[in-house]
This record gives sequence, C-alpha cells and structure tokens, in this order.
Amino acid sequence: MDQFSKPPRGAGTGTARRIYDMLRGQMADGTLPTGARLPSTRALAADLAVSRTTVTAVYEQLAAEGFVVTAAGRAARVASPPATPAGLRARPASAARAPSLSAFGRRVAEIAAPSLPVAAKGRIDFLYGAVAARDFPALIWRRAYQAELLRQHDSLYYVAAEGDASLRRALQAYLRRARGLVCDAERILVVSGTQQAIDLCARLLLDPGDAFAFEDPGYLIARHSFEAAGGRLVPLSVDEHGLDTRSLPADRAARLVYATPSHQFPLGGVLPIGRRLELLEWAQRHDAWVIEDDYDGEFRYGQRPIDALQSIDSSGRVIYIGTFSKALSPHLRLGYMVLPAALVPVFRQAKRLSDRHAPVLEQRVLASLIESGAYERHVRRVRREYERRRTALLDAIAQWLPDRARVAGTAAGLHVVLWLPALSSRDEAALVAAANEKGVGVYPVSPLFAAQRRTAPPRSAGLILGYASLTVEEIRRGVGVLAAVIGDFG
Ligand SMILES: Cc1ncc(COP(=O)(O)O)c(C=O)c1O
Repeated sequence: MDQFSKPPRGAGTGTARRIYDMLRGQMADGTLPTGARLPSTRALAADLAVSRTTVTAVYEQLAAEGFVVTAAGRAARVASPPATPAGLRARPASAARAPSLSAFGRRVAEIAAPSLPVAAKGRIDFLYGAVAARDFPALIWRRAYQAELLRQHDSLYYVAAEGDASLRRALQAYLRRARGLVCDAERILVVSGTQQAIDLCARLLLDPGDAFAFEDPGYLIARHSFEAAGGRLVPLSVDEHGLDTRSLPADRAARLVYATPSHQFPLGGVLPIGRRLELLEWAQRHDAWVIEDDYDGEFRYGQRPIDALQSIDSSGRVIYIGTFSKALSPHLRLGYMVLPAALVPVFRQAKRLSDRHAPVLEQRVLASLIESGAYERHVRRVRREYERRRTALLDAIAQWLPDRARVAGTAAGLHVVLWLPALSSRDEAALVAAANEKGVGVYPVSPLFAAQRRTAPPRSAGLILGYASLTVEEIRRGVGVLAAVIGDFG
C-alpha cells in the first residue's frame, strides 16, 4: 500500500478501511488483474456481511484514486496501471547523483552541522543556550495568551512583515529603559529569533566573495550563515575584553563586522568604551555595517547592564539584534532588530519573502507583558536566579578546582569558560567524552574557532559551561564530577 492511500470516508470507517485494503492487496498480488471485474456492491456487501453503503464508499474512493473504473450501469473494473515515465523509474542506489543545487545550495550542503545534544534523564548538562522550563513565566503567559485569543478578529489574515505594531511600540520603550537605546518604532523589525536576523543580514548585505569580519572564536551558526552567503571570513582576535579592534582589517574593507559587545560569545569579555568607539570609527571609515548581537545583554551581574553599542552610533552603521531566547525561551523563536533607517524597507521586504511575518498571537502576548511591566519583573526575577546559579558555579569551581582552572567571562550572560592551563586543546574531546561518560555534559571551546586557528599550535583546553538550566544542587554535583574527571587527566 502506498503512503498516499487514504481510508475511504463513509459509514464504518474501520470496516471500510479493511475492505479497501483487501481490494488494494488483491490488485497488487494479481488476484484482481488489470481489467478484472469487481463484484457488485450488493454481492460484496452480502459476502462480507456489511452494509452496501460501506462497499459503495470504498468503490468510490478507489475510483477517485484511479484504481478502478466505474460507469453507470456497468460493473467496476480494475484500471490499467499508469505507465511510469522513464524519469521516475527507480534508479539503482549506485547510480544516485548529487541533487542539482544553486551555488548557495552547494555552499549550504557543505556546512557541517554539529549534532544536537541528546537529553538524558539524570544527566547534568552544562548546555549553553539552554534555559530552565521551570523559569518560564507560565502563569502570566497563559493569562495573557487567553486574553489575546479572545481579542482575535473573526477573520484571520496575514499581518505586516515588520511585526505587530503594539509589540514594536512596547519594544521601543523597553529598549530605551533596559538597553539605553533610543529609536523610532518604525526601525524595529520583529524576526524569528536572532538567527533569522543574521540570515537576513547575510543575504542582504554580502555578495559571494565579500569579506566579513568575525570574532574568533565566535558564534558558529552566525559564521555559517555568512559563509553560506558566500562571505570570506576575516577572523578578529578576541581577548578578555572582547573583540580586539587592532585586528580589524586596516587595508581592505570588510562589508560587515559581526560582534557581541555586551558579552563576547563564547569568551565572555565586555567591550570597553574605547574599543566601542574604535569599532564605530572603523565602520564609518570603511562604510561597513556592524551587526551587534545583544543575545544576553540584560544579564549583567553586580552592575547595571552596559548600554547597547547602537546607542552611541551616530553614523547609522549599527544593526542591533535582540532576542527573547534567554529571558523566556529559545522555543519561542522571537527576536527583533533595530535597523538603520536606510535598511528598513529592504529588510521588511526580505522578511516578507522569507516567512511573511512572525507569529501574531505570541507577539501580542509579549506586547501586553512588556506594557504591563510583567516582562521586566520576570527579567529581574530570572536575573537574580541566574546570579545565584552563577555564584554556585564559581564557588564550586573554587572549591573543586582551586589551582587547575581559570574562569573567564563571568561578568554577564548565562555561561562561563573554564580554561584548564595544564591541559591542551587537543585533550578537549577526550575530556568531554569522559565527563559525558560520568553523566555530565560540557562543551569544548575549540570548535568555535575558525579553521585556520583550530590547526594553529594548541592552546589550553577550554570548556564552555552554561548554567541557566541547572539547579544550584546540580551545578555543585556537576562540578564535583567534572573536577574528578579533570583530575584523571593528570
Ligand atoms: C551568540 C548568540 N547569539 C544569539 C543567540 C540566540 O539566538 P536565537 O535568538 O536565534 O535563539 C545565542 C544563543 O545561545 C547566542 O549564543
């Protein structure tokens, strides 16, 4: 039976399905060859002791699908099978050819996607990018969602590509309060997470062969988007203060630079004001775009979050990207861009061509939560929680690995990097495997370096530890196990 066959509609679907399957089976095994007459509906119904309506519904279904031919007053017959066009005949596996793809498609096909981590019960997973389902504000979300459902219009139609007007207004006010960013709501584009924003930038701002300057190490899936667009990577050095502006290309201009100034991903530096100004000055000099990925800028500990880079950009070169993936959930797939005015029309058009617009109900729920103040109360609550987990992590590292580890990137965000000076980057894979074996998930830093740097002389081993999805207790236990694993490496 092929995957397209449907159960016939009509009375007694279970019975009808069995009769349908029986007849299709007899046609397939030759019991009912091409041209053979089917029994009359009356005779078959009597034979099978079912209603004639059921058999008639089965015959109608078979006729509609082209398996039998019926005509008024004539017996139904098995139809001749359609000739298979030569092009559709199955090829032997050995003759399978690579599919024909565009140049973009060929570049995409060449990108090796890292496998997603497997969740296992009892595993303590320091997975960066993960947040805890228990932190999601389910109650206020449900209430707001219900209210928005009741407010829906009778007729549902597509909405404007740039996103719900109430959410863009709410974001405008939020960004001013939380990120020091003053913008017109017209410049805000609601997108399906940071990833869509980066993909739009890659496709709209880069031509194949254009250089893009990129933090190294950096956010892998962003680098992949620029590479898929045909961009040529210009790696930028990163130190404890984030992107090192001295490595910005002085001679040949890159079309754009991607940066995470609030909390460099993955090493965690917060870009100081001097470097921010140098970066903006460089962008202006080379007529380049700066893509500011502010993925976890709301989460800075001990001090007020540093204002967004775009807030000091007077030349309209910075494209700001924010996300709800950290404060709420990456499952929402919702984020936003604040675009330089000149880019607004083309980004709206590209968003429209890509997926028309972001999900409407969720946008309205977010707008109502931001307007009521509930969203910021939630952010403050989870920030306190994350701070508790971060403190537990730093304390556990100090207790279990007092002289073996150096922790970096602790000022902000939801992950840190654990450098192990006595071990080499070549040990990372074995270390990760040994920790996994003991039920602890940790992630190596090396794959986030661009290829040229990965093959350079080995550095210290480095592990990325995300702590947002774990409890304080799990963090303590996990670091204890990890310390024992590291101890075994000598
Ligand atoms: C550097 C960086 N940017 C952005 C994001 C969030 O991406 P998205 O908004 O597509 O979920 C992450 C998630 O971990 C990240 O590490």
